[in-house]
Order: sequence, then C-alpha cells, then structure tokens
Amino acid sequence: MDATAWHWHNATDQEFHRVSTISLEHRAHVIVLGNEKGGSGKSTAAMHVIVGLLRDGYQVGAIDLDARQATLSNYLVSRAKYAESHHMHLPQPRTLSVHRVDNDSRSVAETAERTAFEAAISELSRDCDVIVIDCPGSDTFLSRLGHSYADTLITPINDSFVDFAMLAKVDPDKLDVIHPSVYSEMVWQARKQRFSRDRGKFDWIVMRNRLGATIARNRRDVGTTLEALAKRIGFRTLTGFGERVIFRELYLQGLTLMDLRDASLGISLSMSHVAARAEVRALLSAIRLPAPRFTLTSPPAAIGKLL
Ligand SMILES: Nc1ncnc2c1ncn2[C@@H]1O[C@H](COP(=O)(O)OP(=O)(O)OP(=O)(O)O)[C@@H](O)[C@H]1O
Ligand SMILES: [Mg+2]
Repeated sequence: MDATAWHWHNATDQEFHRVSTISLEHRAHVIVLGNEKGGSGKSTAAMHVIVGLLRDGYQVGAIDLDARQATLSNYLVSRAKYAESHHMHLPQPRTLSVHRVDNDSRSVAETAERTAFEAAISELSRDCDVIVIDCPGSDTFLSRLGHSYADTLITPINDSFVDFAMLAKVDPDKLDVIHPSVYSEMVWQARKQRFSRDRGKFDWIVMRNRLGATIARNRRDVGTTLEALAKRIGFRTLTGFGERVIFRELYLQGLTLMDLRDASLGISLSMSHVAARAEVRALLSAIRLPAPRFTLTSPPAAIGKLL
C-alpha cells in the first residue's frame, strides 16, 4: 500500500472532514444572478460582472441557465465573433449552457439537469476562480439548483413596487413589509439546501437597477422599504446601475463599457460612461472575492489602456 493510500485507509473522521473542507476551498467562487421577476437586469449585470472580473485578472467561467432565452450565451458568442472579426484581443470567459430536460417523468428530468449542472460546475472549477451563473426570470428546477450553489447571490430589481412584490408583500398605506413573498422564500430554501450540502452560507446582495427611470419619491419609498426588508430576511443592498444607454447599446457587438478604453474600439468616454463604470466597480467591490489565482499571462488591466 503506498503512503497516500495508507493515509486514506487510516484517516479518522476528523481528517476526512478536513480533507473534504480543503477540496471545497478549491471550488470556484460562485456568483448567481437571480430574480424571478423577468427583465430586472440579471443578464446585463452578469455580463458586466464577467467582463469586469476578467479585466481584473480573474479566470471566469459562465453558466447560462436560461438557455431558452440565451441572452448571456448570445452576448458572449457575439463577443468572441467581434474579437475575431476585428483581430483584437478581448478577454473571454469559459462558457457552458445547461439545458432544461424534457421528460414525462419530473424526477428523471431533474436528475439529468442536476447531473449536467454539477458537471458544469466541476468542469469550470478546474481552472476558473469565479463562476458567474445567469438564471431565468422564472421559477425552474435549474434556477433553484443554481441558487443553492451560490457563494454570492446578486438580485437586481428595478426601482418599483412591481418588482418589489417578488421579494415581499407591502402594506399600501404604511409601506411596511407584511411578509416575504415567493422569491424570498425560494432564496431561503436555497440557503437551507446550501447549508445541508456543505455547511456553506451565501451572501445575498439586492442591487437596485435602472435608477433614475422613476420619480424621486418612488425611489425613496422603494429604498426605505428595501432597507427594512434587508434587516428582516438577511440581504445587503447596493445602489446599483443607473438607467443608461451604455448598459444596453453594445449588446450586438458583445461588448460592455468595461471594454471602452480599449483604444481599438474608437469610442470616447463620456461623463455618463465614467459614472456607469463607477457603478460596475461598486458592484464588483461589493462581492467578497478571494484574490485571483496567479496567472502566467499578465491580466489585461495591467496593460494600461483598459479600464
Ligand atoms: N441599467 C440599465 N440601463 C438601461 N437598460 C438596462 C439596464 N439594465 C437592463 N437594461 C435593459 O433592460 C432589459 C432587460 O435586461 P436583462 O435582459 O438584463 O434582464 P433579465 O433580468 O436578464 O431578463 P430575463 O428575466 O428576461 O432574463 C434589456 O433590454 C436591457 O438592455
Ligand atoms: Mg436574462
């Protein structure tokens, strides 16, 4: 019996626990973008987080759990095509999609989806520091599973009580939170699943999106009610992205404002771009990430021209 086999053969429960904890530490940090409310900005935020982290020198993996709509996958395909057709270097994540399985038996479909999802996580964990998962704007088995793997959950919400309804039921007169609603309940279940699987906890950030598109009073009321709910069900709030054309106008090219300083794009930075960049940076710094792994190639951020 060789030394390693002897070690495993004679390991106490405590040692096994230590070894399994160590192997968990090697799993990539998982960032999930989720909200059952459609159109709240999950894919937009996912793309900006991915490109921001790539430019900070992280090895990033991306999983699109909304393979039917495929906003994130298409965005990334366009990015690769743009880089190729313009003969330029654009940092790219490793991308995998996990598809919904159609089967008469729900348990057969869910087992197949779980197997594909876990294979994607372990495949990307091999060489990625961070995995960004974009969820659909609906309640699906894959979305629940994705949430239960989060280290950081980011929930963008548009600044309105229509979006707020997915998080909590609110008293229309006093604007008090009456009780948490469907999406908050789902996150609670995902937290329990995560804890029972590996004793892990996740950090939940609710990010307000498209600020500026609503009137000031509504914005203030949503903000106050959100802070009250944050304390009650355990999330942090972030003043997220403003309503800005730059967050959507580069979609067809597969680019983001984090690519703008790349000289070959020929787009000059406006004040709005600078403000948008600060919003993305605030989101990135709110995510409690480990330092990027050492890479032999210099991160693009070090080249100088890039954001
Ligand atoms: N901060 C912003 N400023 C301007 N437009 C935005 C902003 N955030 C998102 N959008 C736009 O809002 C729309 C919905 O955004 P996105 O596709 O990211 O939402 P989603 O939550 O992923 O939607 P779904 O639930 O359908 O997957 C898109 O047209 C997007 O370009
Ligand atoms: Mg989406």
